[in-house]
Amino acid sequence: MSRGSLGRIVILTGAGVSAESGLATFRGPDGLWEGHRVEDVCTPEAFQRDPALVHAFYDARRAKLGSVKPNAAHETLAKLDAQWPGELLLVTQNVDDLHERAGSKRLLHMHGELTKGWCRSCDERFAWSGDMGQSARCSSCGTAGQVRPDIVWFGEMPYDMERIDEALQHADLFVSIGTSGAVYPAAGFVQTARYCGAQTLEINLEPSLGSTFFDESRIGPAGKLVPEWVDEVLSLA
Ligand code: APR
Repeated sequence: MSRGSLGRIVILTGAGVSAESGLATFRGPDGLWEGHRVEDVCTPEAFQRDPALVHAFYDARRAKLGSVKPNAAHETLAKLDAQWPGELLLVTQNVDDLHERAGSKRLLHMHGELTKGWCRSCDERFAWSGDMGQSARCSSCGTAGQVRPDIVWFGEMPYDMERIDEALQHADLFVSIGTSGAVYPAAGFVQTARYCGAQTLEINLEPSLGSTFFDESRIGPAGKLVPEWVDEVLSLA
């Protein structure tokens, strides 16, 4: 990476960036999918078929948020957000709120957020309150039993894709942190960025499925490698 060529940075994070905070990833040995079939808890059909099971899956993940905190990777990405003079966009696949709690502002949740609910009756989105769930009443229209977690399920369109594509097409640097590269469209971001001329860097505990598309791969824990990388980039600012 050279000085001056890094004006516009796009960063993608996955479950691996929150692993050292104590949140399970999806495809690791004790991953979230180990206990559940995706089709039973992470599709619109699953919610239609058994809303109680889907609510229970997300209620358990939401409850865990209260006992975890951002790790050094979240903290230093927030420092970069605050101090980087150029354009910067942090796109996370994660639905936890650790990037916000660390202070990141230029942030998009492409797969939604555990801390939000979505009313299927009036289409309003709102902060999830503790007692919501299958019989929850929408805080906007008052309809009961029509609230779902504001999570993008398999088969649904991720959020903010136009803005993400625009950022990727103009990025000088694309950095992927803590994701297996197993799920599209996020897994294809590196190819878009590369095709449009960005330098590409991967930071992950093991080579991801898309490793060969990256100019550089740094293998190791995000809690160690991300702070090192952020200090390196800020020294170029
Ligand atoms: N530091 C860096 N990387 C880590 C760490 C760590 N401490 N711990 C785990 N990893 C890496 C793993 O090696 C793995 O490659 O993080 C990656 C996590 O991969 P997944 O569990 O597949 O999670 P993710 O890539 O975020 O999944 C993408 O799939 O199920 C859907 O919607 C869900 O957003 C999720 C999407």
